[in-house]
Amino acid sequence: KLPNEKEKKSKHSTTHTAFVKLSGPMYFNGIYHEFYQYNLNGPIFGDIVWGHSVSTDLVNWIGLEPALVRDTPSDIDGCWTGSVTILPGGKPIIIYTGGDIDQHQAQNIAFPKNRSDPYLREWIKAPNNPVLRPDEPGMNSIEFRDPTTGWIGPDGLWRMAVGGELNGYSAALLYKSEDFLNWTKVDHPLYSHNGSNMWECPDFFAVLPGNNAGLDLSAAIPQGAKHALKMSVDSVDKYMIGVYDLQRDAFVPDNVVDDRRLWLRIDYGTFYASKSFFDSNKNRRIIWGWSRETDSPSDDLEKGWAGLHTIPRTIWLAGDGKQLLQWPVEEIESLRTNEISHQGIELNKGDLFEIKEVDAFQADVEIDFELASIDDADPFDPSWLLDPEKHCGEAGASVPGGIGPFGLVILASDNMDEHTEVYFRVYKSQEKYMVLMCSDLRRSVIMLFALILISLLHKRLKTKLK
Ligand SMILES: *[C@@H]1O[C@H](CO)[C@@H](O)[C@H](O)[C@H]1NC(C)=O
Ligand SMILES: *[C@@H]1O[C@H](CO)[C@@H](O)[C@H](O)[C@H]1NC(C)=O
Ligand SMILES: *[C@@H]1O[C@H](CO)[C@@H](O)[C@H](O)[C@H]1NC(C)=O
Repeated sequence: KLPNEKEKKSKHSTTHTAFVKLSGPMYFNGIYHEFYQYNLNGPIFGDIVWGHSVSTDLVNWIGLEPALVRDTPSDIDGCWTGSVTILPGGKPIIIYTGGDIDQHQAQNIAFPKNRSDPYLREWIKAPNNPVLRPDEPGMNSIEFRDPTTGWIGPDGLWRMAVGGELNGYSAALLYKSEDFLNWTKVDHPLYSHNGSNMWECPDFFAVLPGNNAGLDLSAAIPQGAKHALKMSVDSVDKYMIGVYDLQRDAFVPDNVVDDRRLWLRIDYGTFYASKSFFDSNKNRRIIWGWSRETDSPSDDLEKGWAGLHTIPRTIWLAGDGKQLLQWPVEEIESLRTNEISHQGIELNKGDLFEIKEVDAFQADVEIDFELASIDDADPFDPSWLLDPEKHCGEAGASVPGGIGPFGLVILASDNMDEHTEVYFRVYKSQEKYMVLMCSDLRRSVIMLFALILISLLHKRLKTKLK
């Protein structure tokens, strides 16, 4: 049930700020740092600086003054996304994309002013910025951004990947450096693909199949490890699993899929430009994304913010080595209160069971559906995979299928004029069953909370198949 108007306002106290993409998450000396693309002047795009917040538990955050503002020729158009790398001896370093007066993009460096300041509040830009320009033949100078966290190769040199366009290919361009300041382009990209839009926010990390411990890409990579290359493209975050061939210094995907509509996705919700980091505190890899929500610019102005960061998630590789799995960080469980539990509820077609006394604005839902039979599952059409959102739209929450739709109605008003449906359908594929999760937002007023639920539910659906 939706809280009334007054409660809504109090939950969303207005501070005129705009959060957009994440920039450089890191854990350093007991503190989690989150940097992000930020406009101090309002919830619209423009005047982008590096916002900075710190936390000890990933749940409670302290907002600090911006770490980087646009005040040099090579970042006067904006301090855009980048990353943080911790150099040997405990020296964090920021590398970020700046835009100049002509909107050409280049990579810049900044260091903490005082490494003894536990919050690392002040950052100093390197005098020789920009350290990396897109000045090689075939490069597009307005599509050259979002450097990854650096990693050390077997030759002891630093590497990093930068999103870019090279001779019309979208690429994770590869660069090498001895000192993290003087970078040279490797003669081939880490990986590239023809015919797709520019890859924003590339991310590259090592994962061990079936093991949810994180790996530091600069440490010795254990036997059997695989690598993930993530790219933000076509408004979603996609990735490939493969290996990092040290001889060739290149990423080699396990399966080369030409049609990028079929590339794996980190998330099917409103989730983009994610960044991951190795959390040495709890030995895990954490990924965060930017949810742009789905509000209009005028709604953003009224509510006072635009976009938000998803709950941080631990990310690892499934035991079969084929896809990444993720789960909200365990710290989030500290927010759980007022548990309400129901068990053994039998639902038949058309039944609705109302869960009362829940704050519909912030609920963490775990649910197991057990199906009596799946004999009636409709056949799965593989072409749906090209555009699952389209299929969800066509087979809407109110269109009956063989098995499903079944699921949750959330954020519902008393008369059900407003509600959001999050539902599942079971299909029979060639030799296995497929479960499709959809959300129907046509009667939704507030979609963002639905997205949070979706990400939680996605992992918690356990259909007990015969
Ligand atoms: C650096 O930070 C530490 C801890 O906050 C402080 O004690 C010290 O005075 C600072 N040094 C300078 C040069 O500001
Ligand atoms: C930068 O590195 C390259 C390749 O290692 C080297 O040739 C060049 O002299 C270096 N430049 C500076 C200014 O150190
Ligand atoms: C991309 O490469 C594939 C083969 O690797 C080829 O079939 C396809 O036509 C190419 N597409 C473009 C747009 O060049």
